[in-house]
Amino acid sequence: MKENIISHEYQISVNDRRSLNGHNSFLIWFTGLSGSGKSTIANVVEQKLFKQGIKTYTLDGDNIRKGINNDLTFSPEDRTENIRRIAETANLMVEAGLVVLAAFVSPYKKDRENIKSIVKDVNFVEVYVNTSIEECERRDVKGLYKKARAGEIKNMTGISAPYEAPENPDIEILTENESVENASKRIVDFINQKL
Ligand code: ADX
Repeated sequence: MKENIISHEYQISVNDRRSLNGHNSFLIWFTGLSGSGKSTIANVVEQKLFKQGIKTYTLDGDNIRKGINNDLTFSPEDRTENIRRIAETANLMVEAGLVVLAAFVSPYKKDRENIKSIVKDVNFVEVYVNTSIEECERRDVKGLYKKARAGEIKNMTGISAPYEAPENPDIEILTENESVENASKRIVDFINQKL
């Protein structure tokens, strides 16, 4: 089947779109435990970029797991498929000329490696939102850790499912020592060198 799919050559390239926008396009990937602060930081980073006139879009659990991926669970296989589809979606958006922000737990190293191969290394910025499980559980913004401890949620990352921390992220945020504002500024400074 695959061998019968032949790409059509379109005349407008990603570089044409980037020139028209006046900036580069790539994916900023936030990984970390549930409740670590990924979405909060991504949200502030996006606002700062938006104010600079950068064309952005944010992908997160709300618009992905409730929509295109609403058929997926939190089993290891489904998480892999979740991340693969998100990476393919992000890749289209990068091709369309956007700076894409994506905030997902993405606990498996091999899945994050796969994102890099889908969007290409040069288009991938990895941000590790490093908040300890103790602190995430203390915050428990969504009440999920309590449920996980009570056995009502299985495969909860950090409790009953693993989180494989990045070894060499482009940026690491220790949220217990750094404010959201500071962390966001640091990310935007990094991004500005790539724009
Ligand atoms: S991922 O592991 O596949 O990357 P994703 O980021 O899409 O996860 O979704 C994680 C969000 O779903 C968490 O922030 C939390 O709100 C919710 N959630 C529900 N069940 C689980 C679970 N078993 N493990 C982790 N997060 C869960």
